Amino acid sequence: MKKKQVRISVLVSGNGSNLQVLIDAIENGIVPNAKIVQVISSNASAYAVERAQNHDIPVNIITKHDYADIRDRMDAILEMLQLENTDLVVLAGYLSILPQKVIKAYENRIINIHPALLPKYGGKECYGMKVHERIIEAGETESGATIHYVDEGIDTGKIIVQGVVPVRPSDTAELLKERVLKKEHELLPIAVNQVIKEQML
Ligand code: GRF
Repeated sequence: MKKKQVRISVLVSGNGSNLQVLIDAIENGIVPNAKIVQVISSNASAYAVERAQNHDIPVNIITKHDYADIRDRMDAILEMLQLENTDLVVLAGYLSILPQKVIKAYENRIINIHPALLPKYGGKECYGMKVHERIIEAGETESGATIHYVDEGIDTGKIIVQGVVPVRPSDTAELLKERVLKKEHELLPIAVNQVIKEQML
């Protein structure tokens, strides 16, 4: 019997390099039996939107501007996830925090990519470039990427995979970000395959 296709919704806000990695991994059969059924972007001009369109993936734009009340915004997201019969939600550089209602509806079926070795350098104030700046300031010799399940805390969900990169004495936050991003790209297809297996999607 043919295996059912896992329906993935990807939430983005920016460049979408991780989205691209997932698109390619599905197209190349590295993540088999899966389909990105939609990309939801918090930003209409994000490059991620163009990447999705280039692969004929439906895009839904849900911005703060259109939904000033966060509850309405999150209800709209939940509705779109459900309308598309989403099995798995991938937060790939999505800059908002999902409320309990969404997390409960997709328990163990939402994953996030974090650009550091959690539980270190996570939490409310630790996102984007700040993470890399802090790591360099603290004189760490190692950093890396973490892909984890999303629970009700910030960056506290169960870790799926992690990969380490060196922090070099000559590093700027920008250089470190690039090295970590490469690691994220390596890990994302592995994490998605693992979650599909673990959660029997
Ligand atoms: C990555 O650094 C990821 O760790 C963070 O947001 C960034 C997204 O990059 N959550 P991209 O949009 O996938 O290129």
